[in-house]
Amino acid sequence: MAANSKSLSEQSPKLGGTHFEEGRKLSARAHQLIPGGAHTYAKGDDQYPERAPHFIARGKGSHVWDLDGNEYIEYGMGLRAVTLGHAFEPVVQAAVHQMQFGANFVRPAPIEVECAERFLELVPTAEMVKFGKHGSDALDGAVRLARAHTGRDYIAICSDHPFFSVSDWFIGTTAMPGGIPHWTRSHTLGFHYNDLSSVEALFDEYPDQIACVILEAARLEEPAPGFLEGLRDLCHRRGALLVFDEMITGFRWHNSGAQHVYGVTPDLSSFGKAIANGFSVSALAGKREIMQLGGYDHDRERVFLLSTTHGAETHSLAAAIATMSTYRDHDVVGHLYRQGRKLREGVDAAARDAGVHEQVKCLGRDCSVLFTTKDAAGNPSQELRALFLQEMIRRGVLAPSFVVSYSHSDADIEHTIQAAAEALRIYRKALEGNVHDYLIGRPLKPVFRRYP
Ligand SMILES: Cc1ncc(COP(=O)(O)O)c(C=O)c1O
Repeated sequence: MAANSKSLSEQSPKLGGTHFEEGRKLSARAHQLIPGGAHTYAKGDDQYPERAPHFIARGKGSHVWDLDGNEYIEYGMGLRAVTLGHAFEPVVQAAVHQMQFGANFVRPAPIEVECAERFLELVPTAEMVKFGKHGSDALDGAVRLARAHTGRDYIAICSDHPFFSVSDWFIGTTAMPGGIPHWTRSHTLGFHYNDLSSVEALFDEYPDQIACVILEAARLEEPAPGFLEGLRDLCHRRGALLVFDEMITGFRWHNSGAQHVYGVTPDLSSFGKAIANGFSVSALAGKREIMQLGGYDHDRERVFLLSTTHGAETHSLAAAIATMSTYRDHDVVGHLYRQGRKLREGVDAAARDAGVHEQVKCLGRDCSVLFTTKDAAGNPSQELRALFLQEMIRRGVLAPSFVVSYSHSDADIEHTIQAAAEALRIYRKALEGNVHDYLIGRPLKPVFRRYP
């Protein structure tokens, strides 16, 4: 893409974070009231530089506005939940319409069946589905079903994938296991992606004890030929279930999920995030034989599967139906791939021009691009990440990742590439000199750390 000769502030005077006073004041208040100042760690102050919006007051499409009135093009989109764009009209209308008829009753609402039908139309490799509120709920349900179905206690998770659930069985394996009993921690085992022998070794070490193997079918790395098929066959030979976490891949890799893209059907899979464009809906889907243990059309021991007060909140299900209908009727996934690709190519070219392509690299599929921020020695740097975010924010781009939505336009992408080109020239200077001459305030910190 040709570089524009006008400076960014001349081209888009509205975009850019310059003053954050109102946000800072509310942030101080938030830290008095809420541990960590936010209800989701990934949105916390320690994940952003000091010169960053503390709060987002509103969003429309691919743009957001902070409490001080600064406007940004946003990438990240509600931790990848907002695939269509913020306040996407058909989804908002569907939710508002449904809300007028009541949010929650003593018996199921008909919309629960309609939403299940729409989901299973899109993901035909699943035979049954049950909705929850969070990806964690859905995967927790998968773990319980797998343990009940197999009569085994251990579970194996892919150690190269960063997040599966807020529940003890996963948090106990992280660098922040405080409050989780040793028994729980010791019953989750780890294996490596694209390494069947590491899974086989677990089955050998814990014979007839592993209930299920959990992974994202793909994340930044694509599956090696035969890996997913081999994993499925290995699990079944050893009497365990294969579970795909489709929280990110579902509706981003393909309307029918990564299980469709790679042609490997897991026994169970969990969906969430993109299912309702930011409204809280998740889904546990899978084979009837296993899923129905959560019901009562069988003669085995029953399993308490996903059952919460708010599980079938009607307006969230209406939002989910409108979102999934948009996927069905429009080429949303194609747009994500196209815009993500343009962005990746532009940022990678800008990194080469600035001579920082070894440090700043786009990673992953075009529909879900992340980036590295390494130092001169090739190690991940929280200082340099903070600096890059700071310089992007100054230029009107809020980009903890380069995850696009259906609302990201060509103009958004062009602006972002030019912002990155300018930010990366500063990154280069920081690499050659001292990052603290350019970074205002403290660096970032990883979410998972044992001490503050
Ligand atoms: C791959 C993956 N699985 C599971 C989860 C948990 O989902 P939730 O936060 O909705 O509980 C996340 C959340 O970020 C995720 O990225």
